[in-house]
Amino acid sequence: MSGLRRPLIAGNWKMNGLRADGEARARELARRAGGADAPPCDWVLCPPAPLLPVVAAATTGSPIGIGGQDCHPEASGAHTGDVAAAMLADAGCRWVIVGHSERRADHGESDALVAAKAQAAHAAGLVAIVCVGETEAERDDGRAHAVVARQIAGSLPRGASAANTVIAYEPVWAIGTGRTPTPDDVQAMHAHIRACVPAGIDAGALRILYGGSVKPGNAAQLLRLPDIDGALVGGASLAVEDFWAIGEATR
Ligand code: PGA
Repeated sequence: MSGLRRPLIAGNWKMNGLRADGEARARELARRAGGADAPPCDWVLCPPAPLLPVVAAATTGSPIGIGGQDCHPEASGAHTGDVAAAMLADAGCRWVIVGHSERRADHGESDALVAAKAQAAHAAGLVAIVCVGETEAERDDGRAHAVVARQIAGSLPRGASAANTVIAYEPVWAIGTGRTPTPDDVQAMHAHIRACVPAGIDAGALRILYGGSVKPGNAAQLLRLPDIDGALVGGASLAVEDFWAIGEATR
């Protein structure tokens, strides 16, 4: 972490939970994050869309922000099953994840579509958390930096800034697997990302999160790296103690 950028700890609940447990988890995190001795980070929870109202209610007045896990590039229309960025904002969101590798893989999302989604997020006043990351085969072939550079070039829309955009580097092979890159590899990739963001973005102010099997046991060693500005947490965000411990590692 760098003193220039406030750390951000974001929880991606993916397709997990019902209202009762989502509400209980959000309420307990809101209570802790509102405490005088809370760690010096920003917190975001990204629950499944049907849980947004209960999570919004449970976190009202607390330092916890909420976000969607995806949005459609268009503002409204005949798109069955999709959610518009303005609907997320209307539900209380300030954030939305776009281009998660599970969406890129499960729904064939291209860089261009991810950029359009990020642009829609910005138009709705949301901060887009834009995910990038190489597959295991791409890393083994020595192409990880080139792949991520291509994703950055293609997935950030015109108008992206350090204020309306966060980048999450999530190597696909590290998500949900318990495997993580070495701290040296993570730092090298984050420095590479900071070096290749488009000229319109203040790279020194841009927050770049690491995601992929972040746990209480590895958070401190990842978060102390100079170009890591926080974490996008999947599995460990479903347990209050684990997610809180990852935030504590920002101290
Ligand atoms: P994980 O997921 O922490 O369960 O590996 C991270 C993510 O996909 O955002």
